[in-house]
Amino acid sequence: MGELLCMKGITKRYGNGVLANEHASFSLREGEIHAIAGENGAGKSTLMKILCGAQQPTEGTIELRGKPVRMTSPKVATSLGIGMVYQHFMLVDELPVYLNVFLGVEKRRGLVLDKQAMIAQTRALCEKYDMPVDPLALCGDLPVGLRQKVEILKVLVRDAKIIILDEPTAVLTPQETEQLFKQLRILRDARHTIVIITHKLREMKELCDRITIMRHGKTMGAVNACDVSEQEISELMVGGSVRLKVAKADVTPGEIVAEMKAVTVPGSGRPRLDGISFIARAGEILCLAGVEGNGQQQVIECLTGQIDYRGSVKVLGKEVRGQSVRKIRDLGMAHIPEDRMTMGTNQRASLHENLISVDFDRNTVAGFLKSRALKARSEKQLKAFLVKGEIQTPISMLSGGNMQKVVVARELSQHPRLVIANQPTRGVDVGAIAFIHEKLIALRDAGCGIVLVSADMNEVFSLADRIIVFHEGRIAAEINDVANTTEQQLGRYMLGIDQMKREEAAQ
Ligand SMILES: Nc1ncnc2c1ncn2[C@@H]1O[C@H](COP(=O)(O)OP(=O)(O)OP(=O)(O)O)[C@@H](O)[C@H]1O
Ligand SMILES: [Mg+2]
Repeated sequence: MGELLCMKGITKRYGNGVLANEHASFSLREGEIHAIAGENGAGKSTLMKILCGAQQPTEGTIELRGKPVRMTSPKVATSLGIGMVYQHFMLVDELPVYLNVFLGVEKRRGLVLDKQAMIAQTRALCEKYDMPVDPLALCGDLPVGLRQKVEILKVLVRDAKIIILDEPTAVLTPQETEQLFKQLRILRDARHTIVIITHKLREMKELCDRITIMRHGKTMGAVNACDVSEQEISELMVGGSVRLKVAKADVTPGEIVAEMKAVTVPGSGRPRLDGISFIARAGEILCLAGVEGNGQQQVIECLTGQIDYRGSVKVLGKEVRGQSVRKIRDLGMAHIPEDRMTMGTNQRASLHENLISVDFDRNTVAGFLKSRALKARSEKQLKAFLVKGEIQTPISMLSGGNMQKVVVARELSQHPRLVIANQPTRGVDVGAIAFIHEKLIALRDAGCGIVLVSADMNEVFSLADRIIVFHEGRIAAEINDVANTTEQQLGRYMLGIDQMKREEAAQ
């Protein structure tokens, strides 16, 4: 395989003075799948944005097939066959799939849009790459896995030969990840070259030919994926030893902190939740597992007072129905929502404003904010959760993983009695995952109840004291002996192949 592309001596200093890349270099061989690994804030997204023309380097050169090129805009990069699927998607929810795919490169016949041609071409690409997307569906209605396919289609329609994906699997279930990998392999076999940014060590080994490792804005060189172990990769990223597993003492569950009795939530076809009953106790981590779209999301929405339901939902002793989100929080519930960009943060505000947003009214004295004390508290939280950023930094300038850490810091610092954690470590690097896991376990040991939704099997097995598996809006299994359950068995429950008989949850 010859060298296709080479980035040399890339330095990037953002307007606010942050040095995101420092003399970084990167090389790609034609037809390979190449991973980029590194801690949150290491400069991975920045380096790839420079490659696809979305950011301009402060210094450095790029060569494509041996010739110097300048990626002065994403358009230029597109014309050179380079396309990127960003960490946070950029689709227009109100438009159908095919118009999103062709946005900016619409096909026309004369002056009018040639809808039929665009629909047909979208359909043909879906078939070729085995993507189950309906060209006419509205993007806003699609689950995240399919939205990602639309982003990939956008890149393919523009005829990209080098496709860069920024943490594509962070938002996918294990099954969707498998499917994506199949598609990426088809693309590779069709002579595309793929770059994938990921925090998941297993994926680097399973999917990729080579791995470029970044640390603090610098590149540590590329290694063959088959030559390094997961432990070695993480040590190269961090520059020291790393613990991948956290220790967990035996559990002593206490009083009930959340409870559902015969809860039903209607859907357009079958109910989204169909007679669900369970309890979660203080001092335990209860994991709600399942393939996305099987009801876990609705359970979270019921518990946090976001949707209506039939039956009874109690949080910290109080029926949720009719209560504001604020009131439920005041009872002692913290919530790490699934989507940090829309629900978890205010993108227009600073880190400090985001951190105090949940409780600033409790911190006013005669109408005045205790501002100095709160600033000090925010500073402490950022430090404690290893966030790379200052309190006055706009949150939109943080790397994806650091943004997630801000949300987790805010929620876990509230002295909660119940934590609802929905994908708490999505997009977070291995060191910070271990750190967040330790925090969750410490809270549990201190008697807090934790309800966890996670699509990450590693996370489920390292944290859960008990697992409830959802399938088609019902409970397919309740696993009390997590240590003696295999991933395969859990997978069978999740896919509805097996079902476990269970006693109705304690009345
Ligand atoms: N638009 C921006 N303006 C200012 N600083 C930025 C901007 N984008 C990123 N940074 C900073 O540059 C550094 C590198 O960020 P980058 O997004 O490249 O990291 P990353 O390796 O992709 O991290 P993650 O794994 O968390 O996504 C971080 O310190 C980040 O705060
Ligand atoms: Mg990133």
